Amino acid sequence: MKRILLFILPILIIVAAAFTIFGIFQVRFEEEKLMDDLQRKARAVAESVELAARFAIVNNDLKIAARVVESFQGRERLQGCIIYDKDGQMLAITKRISNLQQEMRPYIKENLSSKAPRSSLEKLKDYSVYSYILPILDDENNALGFVEVIYDTSYVFTTLTELWRRLNTTLAILVVFIVITALFIQRQIFTLPVARLTDWFVHFQRGDIDKWHPIKEKGELGKLASEVEQLALGIRVARKTISEDAQFRLKKEETWTEVKLRDFVRAKLGENALFVVSNREPYIHTIDESSGASKCVRPASGVVTAIDPIMRACGGIWIAQGGGNADKKFVNTKNKLGVPPEDNRYILKRVWLTKEEEDGYYYGFSNEGLWPLCHITHTRPIFRENDWQFYKSVNEKFAESVLEELPAKNPFVFIQDYHFTLLPKMIKQKRPDATVALFWHIPWPNPEVFSICPYQEEILDGMLGADLIGFHIQYHCNNFLDTANRLLESRVDTEKFSITRVGKETFIRAFPISVDGYTNAASTIKIEQINKIKKEFELENKIIALGVDRIDYTKGILERILAVDRFLEKYPQYRGKFVFIQLAAPSRTHIKRYHDLMGEIDELIEKKNWKYLETDWKPIIYLKRHFSPEEILPFYKLADICIVSSLHDGMNLVAKEFVASKQDLNGVLILSKFTGAARELTDALPINPYSIEEFADTIKLAVEMPDEEKIKRMENMRRTISENNVYRWAADIITELTSLKKT
Ligand code: F6P
Repeated sequence: MKRILLFILPILIIVAAAFTIFGIFQVRFEEEKLMDDLQRKARAVAESVELAARFAIVNNDLKIAARVVESFQGRERLQGCIIYDKDGQMLAITKRISNLQQEMRPYIKENLSSKAPRSSLEKLKDYSVYSYILPILDDENNALGFVEVIYDTSYVFTTLTELWRRLNTTLAILVVFIVITALFIQRQIFTLPVARLTDWFVHFQRGDIDKWHPIKEKGELGKLASEVEQLALGIRVARKTISEDAQFRLKKEETWTEVKLRDFVRAKLGENALFVVSNREPYIHTIDESSGASKCVRPASGVVTAIDPIMRACGGIWIAQGGGNADKKFVNTKNKLGVPPEDNRYILKRVWLTKEEEDGYYYGFSNEGLWPLCHITHTRPIFRENDWQFYKSVNEKFAESVLEELPAKNPFVFIQDYHFTLLPKMIKQKRPDATVALFWHIPWPNPEVFSICPYQEEILDGMLGADLIGFHIQYHCNNFLDTANRLLESRVDTEKFSITRVGKETFIRAFPISVDGYTNAASTIKIEQINKIKKEFELENKIIALGVDRIDYTKGILERILAVDRFLEKYPQYRGKFVFIQLAAPSRTHIKRYHDLMGEIDELIEKKNWKYLETDWKPIIYLKRHFSPEEILPFYKLADICIVSSLHDGMNLVAKEFVASKQDLNGVLILSKFTGAARELTDALPINPYSIEEFADTIKLAVEMPDEEKIKRMENMRRTISENNVYRWAADIITELTSLKKT
C-alpha cells in the first residue's frame, strides 16, 4: 500500500496543482466577462433613460422622473434606477432600492465635477451591487444631473461559486480515475507478474513444479524470473545428484551415524523434506527480565534430545509451540527461523498459543489428563470438558500450520507424543497422500485404565489416522492393540500388528528411542571442567552418585532421596564418603501437583542433610535449575553412579546419555525396572524404586562393584547404545514407513 501511495501521490499533487492554477485563471476570466457584460447592460439602460431623465430634470417634473425609475421595479437583476439633479440631490428612486437614500455614498458628490460615466462595485450593508452613473449634460456640456443604474451582483458570485464547484467535481473524478488507472496498471505490470512468480516459487518449494513450468514473464521481471528458474533448476539437479550419491554411499557404511542417516533419508525420501511436529520446541529464546539480554536454551525434554540430532542430520521443518518470552523476536514473517542458531541445519516453525489455549491444551488436558492416565504412579487424572475443547482447537491450529507447509507430493509427517492425538486424522483428511507417523514417547496403559478417559473414542480415532504408531517397547504396543480391540469398533490383526478402522489400516510397532551416541560431545569435556565442579562442591575423594531429571512425580526423586538416606543409615561406613548430586529442572510448575512436589523435595532434602550434618560433608547436593546438555556432560563424566529411579517411564534417555558419555567405562547405572530403557540396558543394576530397602542395597552394590565388572557391564551397555542409537531409531521408522507405502 505504501508503495502504491508513493507512486500515485506525486501524480495527484501535480494534477491538483495544475487544476487549481487553471481554475483560478478560469474563474478570473469568467468574472471579468460577467462584469464587462454587466457594464454594457448598465450603460445601455442608463443611456435609454437619459432622454426622459433630462426632460424631467429640465422641467423639474418629478412625476416623469418617478415614472422613469419605477419602470425598473419588476426587473430581475436590475435592481433599480436613481435620478439626481445637478447638486447630487435625489429626484427619484426605484422603490425597491429606496433604502439607498440613507446610505452614505460620497462618490455621488465626487462625480459632480468629473462629468464622465463611472462604474463601480459597491458594498451596501449585507449585499453588493454594481453601480453605473451616467452624467446628463446640456448643449454647453454642463451637468444637469445624473442617472444611476444599480444592478444586483449576487448572481456573479453564484455563477463563480458554481464554476468552482464544477471544477472541484471534475478534479475529484479525475483523481478517482487516476487512482483506478494507476492501480490497474500497477496490478498488470507488477502485482500479477510478481504473484505469478511467487506462486511458482511456492510450488517449487513444495516440489510441484511440472505444472508450473516454465515461467513466461517478459521484460525486466522476465529476466529476473529466468534467473530464478536457472537457480531452481540448479537446486533440483543438485538434489537429485545428492540423493543418488546418498544411495551409493549407503551401501558402503555399517554403523548408523549422522551422515549415514542423512544419506538414508535422501535416498528414501528423495526431494521430500521431513516434517516433525511436537509441542516442545528444540530451541527456546528467552529474555532475562532484569538484564534485558536474550538467550537461546535447549529444554529438558526426551523428545528434543532424540529428534534434534535427526533433524540436524536430515534437515526439514520442525513445527512446535513457541513458548519462550523472546521467541517472537527471532522469527521471520512466516514464524520460522534456522536452527541451531549458530549453525542452521533445519527450520523451526513456531506456532503461537494464547494463555487460555496453553492452560487448557498443555497444562490441563495433556498434563493433568493424559500424562497421569498413561503413567502408573497413582496420580489421579483430571479431565475437564473445557480443557478438552482447547485440546481439540489447538490440534486444529497445528494441523493448519502443518498443512500450509506440506509439499505437493507424498510428504512425510512425523508427529510426537500425547499432545497431538487428533492431529494424524486431521492431516490425513486434507492430505490423504501424506505418510503420517505418530510416536508415543510415554507408556500406553492397559484398556481398563484407558477406558476411564471420557474422550477415549475420539482420541483413538484421531490416532488411527496415522499410517504408523510407534511405542518404545512391545508391551506398550500390545496394550494399544488391546485398547483398540476392546474400546473401539475396529479390526485388530495380531499377526500383522495392525488396526483397521473404516477401511484405514494403521501399523503398530515398537521402536526403542535412543541418544546420538553422545561420544563426540563427551570427548570435548576437559578435565578442568570436571575439576572445577569437584572443587566447587568439595567432591574430592568422594563416591559420587548422580540424578538428572525434570521435576516430575513419575521420576521417583523422593524415593531416590529416601533410598540414599537408607543407604547411609544402613551402611554408616559411607558417611562422609558418599555424595548424591541431583540436577533438577523445574517443569510444568503451574500444575499444583508439580508445584507441591517441588516443595516436598526441598523439604525432604533439607531434612536428610540436617540429619547427617557434619562439618565438611553434606550427603545431598540439590541443584534446582535448567541445565543445558553441555552443562550436564561433565556431571555424567565425574559421576561414579547414575541413579534413574522412575516410577514409570516410556524409555528414559538420561540412562542412555550417562552410558554414552562414559568413554572411560568407569560407571555404574542403577535403573528402575519400570523404564523402557531397562529392557535394553540389562547390564544396569535393576531396582524397584518403591522398595526403599532393596534400592539402598543396590546403591551399596554399585558402590562396591569391582572395576572389572563395572567395565564389562559398561562395555555391554555402550555396545547396545551405539548399535541402537537414535539415527538407527529414525532409520527404522522411515524404513517401516516407506515399506508400508509400497504394500
Ligand atoms: O518424555 C516425555 C515427555 O513428555 C516428552 O515427550 C517431553 O518432551 C518431555 O516429557 C518434557 O515435557 P514438557 O515438554 O512438558 O516439558
